[in-house]
Amino acid sequence: MDREAELAIVRRAYAKQVLASVGVDDPSVEAAFAAVERERYLGPGPWPILRHSGYVPTPDDDPVYLYADVLIGIVPERGLNNGMPSYHAPVIARADIRAGEHVVHIGAGVGYYTAILAHLVGNAGRVTAIEFDHALAQRAAASFSGTANVAVVCGDGASLPFDPADVIYINAGATRPADVWLDRLHDGGRLILPLTAKKILPLGSGNSIMRHGAVFRIERKGGEYLAKWISAVGVYPCEGGRDGASEAALDAALQKGGWQNVTRLYRTDDLPDGRCWLRAPGWALAYD
Ligand SMILES: C[S@@+](CC[C@H](N)C(=O)[O-])C[C@H]1O[C@@H](n2cnc3c(N)ncnc32)[C@H](O)[C@@H]1O
Repeated sequence: MDREAELAIVRRAYAKQVLASVGVDDPSVEAAFAAVERERYLGPGPWPILRHSGYVPTPDDDPVYLYADVLIGIVPERGLNNGMPSYHAPVIARADIRAGEHVVHIGAGVGYYTAILAHLVGNAGRVTAIEFDHALAQRAAASFSGTANVAVVCGDGASLPFDPADVIYINAGATRPADVWLDRLHDGGRLILPLTAKKILPLGSGNSIMRHGAVFRIERKGGEYLAKWISAVGVYPCEGGRDGASEAALDAALQKGGWQNVTRLYRTDDLPDGRCWLRAPGWALAYD
């Protein structure tokens, strides 16, 4: 058997294991994880894998080491990693991405999960990948050159305008939804919104800036926004998507619990406290 055929089997096993570990039964998400080559986006190995003791390089550049449920350092000195497959698989499944849709991916990094999103929308759909860091955006753009359904844009995804989207997949920790994310969501569109608060020290890294938080699925219905908690999240912060007042409100809400009961996002200051899980200037997450 040649090396590519061997790796294709490894990828299929990885996809099955990752989805099974988080109870996701979604053939299209499994097929996307089985098809996309993680090594193509991470560049040549060996690669730094985040272990309990810190980043540990893979023994060599065999891509087989990438097909495990691990965080892989992209810029390890900044704690910036290629995300955990077992975080992304259920969250992507909850975005209900359909062939032909337009997905906006904010915080694309070097593009591995962008490629998974592109696989889900297929050739009839498209992905706009926005990455703040110039060098990472350049690497992603090079990996997608010649890929018709992906456009990479370097900039601040919390303020850059983009074409209206069916799904907006945020991959960095915000403290509030940016106006552009809510405004540019089609009716019926879904926003995946990781909200992160206080600093924590993650596994094995003294200088990381990952934070703890909660990821919500926001679905637009006309002028209303339905909200549902998906999972916990710890992730690199979103430039332009954070403010002190929202961070304080989020921190207090996370400490009191009850995020599972949130049903709606409101863009107003007018809700009574008793209806809110989180109330911050101009917006709230509330119980109906
Ligand atoms: C946790 S990393 C995820 C990278 C990638 N999704 C992955 O898993 O490989 C978060 C990324 O979001 C980017 N980022 C932060 N704020 C951003 C913003 N406002 N617009 C676009 N990208 C942003 C960071 O530069 C970083 O690459």
